[in-house]
Amino acid sequence: MTDRDPAASADQAAREHGLVESVVASFANCADPRLREVMSSLTRHLHAFIREVRLTEEEWRTAIRFLAEAGRLAGDEHQELVLLSDVLGASMQTVAVNNEAYEHATEATVLGPFFVTDSPGIPHGGDLAGGAAGTPCWVEGTVTDTDGSPVAGARIEVWEADEDGLYDVQYADGRVAGRAHLYSGDDGGYCFWGLKPGSYPVPHDGPVGRLLEAVGRSPQRVEHLHYMVTAPGYRTLVTQAFVEGDPQLRLGDSVFGVKDSLVKRFEDQRPGTPGPDGRELDGQAWSRVRFDVVLAPQP
Ligand SMILES: [Fe+2]
Repeated sequence: MTDRDPAASADQAAREHGLVESVVASFANCADPRLREVMSSLTRHLHAFIREVRLTEEEWRTAIRFLAEAGRLAGDEHQELVLLSDVLGASMQTVAVNNEAYEHATEATVLGPFFVTDSPGIPHGGDLAGGAAGTPCWVEGTVTDTDGSPVAGARIEVWEADEDGLYDVQYADGRVAGRAHLYSGDDGGYCFWGLKPGSYPVPHDGPVGRLLEAVGRSPQRVEHLHYMVTAPGYRTLVTQAFVEGDPQLRLGDSVFGVKDSLVKRFEDQRPGTPGPDGRELDGQAWSRVRFDVVLAPQP
C-alpha cells in the first residue's frame, strides 16, 4: 500500500462520513420513532463496517449473492437465515439482550430452527419419541417461581433430534416425532420419556455451511434437549438442557448457546434396570435426567 496524501485522506474520510450522515438524515421524517432509531443505528454500524474493512465491490457482490441464496433456502423446512443468525451469535445476543438474568431463574438460550407449533400433547410419563430412534431417557423436574412456589399448569414444549441427529421436520415422510407438550401438575412437577440427546451438526449443505467451512469452524452442536415453558404471569422461557460430559462442550457450540447452568447430568442406566415408572425396556440401556425449571416473573 502506498502512502496516501494526508489531505486527500481527510477529504476521503469527509466524503465517507458525509454519506453516512445523508443516509441517516433520510430517515428524519419516519413517523415511527423506533423504526427511525433502528434504521439510523443500522446505517451507522453497516457503514462503519464497510469503511473499517475497506470492503471491495467484489466482496459486497459476494455478500449479496450469499444473502440471496440463503433467502431462497428459507422456508418452513429449511431456515437458512435463522441458521445464519445462529452461527453469527446474533440469535444468542438477541436472547441475552431480551432475557436479562433474573435472580436464579433458569437461563434462556436460542430457539433454533426446528421448533414448530401444534406439537402433540402427552400425559405425565408419556413418551414423546413417537418412534424416533435413540436411547430412551426419563426426564423429570419441577416448574417453580423464583420463590420456589410450584407453577401449576405451565405448558412445557420439548423437542429434540433422533440418534441420527435429525429433527422430524427433516424427515421426508412428514411424520411427527421427538416433540410434544405437557403441563406441569399441581405440585409443579412433570415427567416424560424422551431420547437421550445426541450430537448433531447444524445443517451445513447450504451457504451457511460453506461459510463455516471457509472460516474453519465446526457445524457441531453440543448435545441438547429443547424446552419452551409458558405460564400466565411469567416470562416465556426458551432454553435447552445440555449433556454433561459431551466433548463438544470443550470444543465449542456452533451457535454459542451453552450456559454452564444449563449443563445437566444424564445418568446412564444399565440394561435391565427397571424404568422409574415400571416401564419394561426389554433389556435396553436408558438414561435419566432432572431438569428443574425456574420461571422469572413477567416484566
Ligand atoms: Fe437442536
